[in-house]
Amino acid sequence: MSQAQPYFPGLDGVLAGETAISTIEGGLQYFGYAVRDLAEDASFEEVAYLLLHGNLPTEEQLADFEAVLIEASHVPAEVIDFMATIPLHVGEMDVLRTAVSALAHWDEDPTETSDITKAERLLGQIPILIAARYRQRQGFRVLRPQQDLSIAGNLLYLITGEEPSEFQEKAMNVSLILYAEHEFNASTFTARVVTSTKSDLYSAVVAAIAALKGPLHGGANEQVLRQLQQIDSLDEAENWFHQLMAKKGLLMGFGHRVYKEGDPRAVVLKDYCVRLAESSGNTRLEEIAECIERLARDKRGLYPNLDWPSARLYYYLGLDVDLYTPLFVASRVTGWCAHIIEQAAHNRLIRPRAKYIGKSDLTFEPLSERDQSE
Ligand SMILES: CC(C)(COP(=O)(O)OP(=O)(O)OC[C@H]1O[C@@H](n2cnc3c(N)ncnc32)[C@H](O)[C@@H]1OP(=O)(O)O)[C@@H](O)C(=O)NCCC(=O)NCCS
Repeated sequence: MSQAQPYFPGLDGVLAGETAISTIEGGLQYFGYAVRDLAEDASFEEVAYLLLHGNLPTEEQLADFEAVLIEASHVPAEVIDFMATIPLHVGEMDVLRTAVSALAHWDEDPTETSDITKAERLLGQIPILIAARYRQRQGFRVLRPQQDLSIAGNLLYLITGEEPSEFQEKAMNVSLILYAEHEFNASTFTARVVTSTKSDLYSAVVAAIAALKGPLHGGANEQVLRQLQQIDSLDEAENWFHQLMAKKGLLMGFGHRVYKEGDPRAVVLKDYCVRLAESSGNTRLEEIAECIERLARDKRGLYPNLDWPSARLYYYLGLDVDLYTPLFVASRVTGWCAHIIEQAAHNRLIRPRAKYIGKSDLTFEPLSERDQSE
């Protein structure tokens, strides 16, 4: 390979493989369906089915799928008990990564990569893991899912112990749909790299969780709320923004590698934030967010990504900050598994080249003859 070959830091703009799962061209689509339409009218279960099977379900297929997910949501008691032994200061995302890894040990055949059953099981089990750890940390009793609630409704119920209102369930459902899949993002690409070595589905998902945790990726939604909480009032917002920019800080929830003029998913979710805030009678955070959004756009040409509204949405739903990225996992596991299965079906080891910038052709000197000064 010639060193003059084109090089794209961060693989920016590089087509690193083929996929039939989703595209961002012409607006984000999952298997050809506009995500905006799915968010409007579908359940997260329908979208998960679409991502794992490649087509939307019939009523009967959806009912079967939901029954499978309920059955699949059983988590071995040993895993729940093990989570309780992890020191309480360890955050939700770290415990979730470990717990998903532990689940592999209770799978009779953890080595298979292209198995939809495993994907369905993880889709059912991850909400249980997230809620169990949260309630263990709070000293609350771990709850069982309610059969008549959706995944979105159960996530809220299992965490808070309260059945959500119809609108709260809808808002969570929409966030899960919007988070479910996004082409070759960092965590999905990680899952595909692991799969390409013919490693197993659990290992690929654990690696994807590790990639998602970073604040430049999924971890941003937690940082968004932490930043917003630094601003006490609308009067302070402008000053706070200018101070952050002056010290070259990152405004979390803004900017995106593939959307330079705004993330369409953020626009959809913002509407739910406004409605939740209005129904609570407290719109202070929305006003602050609106002000920051205006400043970021006008002063820096930066637009919000999905983590910007999702952080506020989860806050309005009464959820603790360190649950936000795990909730992203509860959704994105569908996209990861779809990509893992697709990669396994059309596999070629992912092994790119590097542009070498180090020294060359040095003379090796045996240890005793080497300059011993430090
Ligand atoms: C998502 C992100 C990593 C994309 O990075 P990228 O594609 O490499 O974009 P770049 O870093 O090239 O950004 C271009 C410029 O905008 C700036 N920029 C991008 N996002 C920014 C942000 N959120 N706050 C402040 N400046 C930002 C960069 O510093 C860079 O400035 P420079 O040209 O003066 O160096 C980046 O926008 C970011 O860190 N955002 C905050 C974290 C976040 O919300 N992540 C979730 C993504 S879905």
